[in-house]
Amino acid sequence: MSRITGTGSFVPAKIIDNFDLEKKVDTSDEWITERTGIKARRTLATGQTNSDMCLEASKRALQSAGLKAKDIDLIIVATMSGDMPMPSTAAILQSKLGAKNAAAFDINAACSGFLYGLSVADKFIRTGASQKLLLIGSEVNSRFLDWKDRTTCVLFGDGAGAVVLEPAKGKRGILSTHLHTDGNMWDFICLPGGGSQLPPSSKSIRDRMHFIKMRGNETFKIAVRTLEKLALSTLKHNNVKPSELAMLIPHQANLRIIAATASRLNIPMDRVAVNLDKYGNTSSASIPIALDEVVKAGRIKDGDYVLLEAFGSGLTWASALIKW
Ligand code: ACO
Repeated sequence: MSRITGTGSFVPAKIIDNFDLEKKVDTSDEWITERTGIKARRTLATGQTNSDMCLEASKRALQSAGLKAKDIDLIIVATMSGDMPMPSTAAILQSKLGAKNAAAFDINAACSGFLYGLSVADKFIRTGASQKLLLIGSEVNSRFLDWKDRTTCVLFGDGAGAVVLEPAKGKRGILSTHLHTDGNMWDFICLPGGGSQLPPSSKSIRDRMHFIKMRGNETFKIAVRTLEKLALSTLKHNNVKPSELAMLIPHQANLRIIAATASRLNIPMDRVAVNLDKYGNTSSASIPIALDEVVKAGRIKDGDYVLLEAFGSGLTWASALIKW
């Protein structure tokens, strides 16, 4: 079994609140707050990159684990907004961090990316293939938003969260991870342009194909149904009752989705990590940022059960149960 031995996070300084967005598109603070729970989001400064945010979050996670960059043998970056299509953002981070003993690769499962990464990381450690692993979820969503599309541009933000994983010495650690995909609904949330299906062209740019598109309302309904089932099956797999959970750390897409899951599990909101009011949906970064905040605030203690769950493009959904 693997255990998280360090956490760290980074969000850019620039804040865009709902009132700023009222000036850009036909929206209102009232609509965004009521429908999503989001009040503000961060955007990365021009000239800064995804790997720069990974670097800051990683340094903080390494410090909290008491490790040096050269101790790390594997780096995994979960992202859908990497520095460039090739090489991986993880490789660029490896250089910036000076983690010369680490292999490095990216993983992309959109908003479920961190939990997909956690599952892969846990398996590397369980097999003995890695001893000290750095996993980061990091997104520069602001660069892929259509700032003329009010149905998406109000939702997303930038940020990075990192964890260090090591083999567990006792019975505390990642108890199980669960991954799911239904590719039939790939077009519910997608960024159609820029890949091999639709390489960049003046037409693809004119048609605004290099931005995130989402069928939000249909996704919402599936997310609520799916996350309840996912949370219950993850707990059942480990013989843990919802009432035994110390903390639920959900992906931060919509407060109504988070509250519906908590209510269906009968978990009071004071045992649910929420930060989308400050950061919006930071995709693969949302769970590790929230985890870092919860740890730093002393909201979880040794031996607590912590449930992580996410839903996103693919469609993908994933969970992990941790005995902290
Ligand atoms: N401001 C004002 N009005 C708006 C805005 C806005 N920013 N956006 C949409 N509207 C309007 C719509 O045009 C629509 O108007 P109409 O009734 O006149 O047609 C009305 O508001 C209702 O729109 P809906 O899309 O039905 O609103 P809904 O309550 O579903 O909220 C939202 C939309 C917030 C996107 C929600 O559906 C949601 O959160 N979906 C799930 C998102 C999610 O979980 N995604 C997965 C992760 S993302 C990833 O993986 C990258």
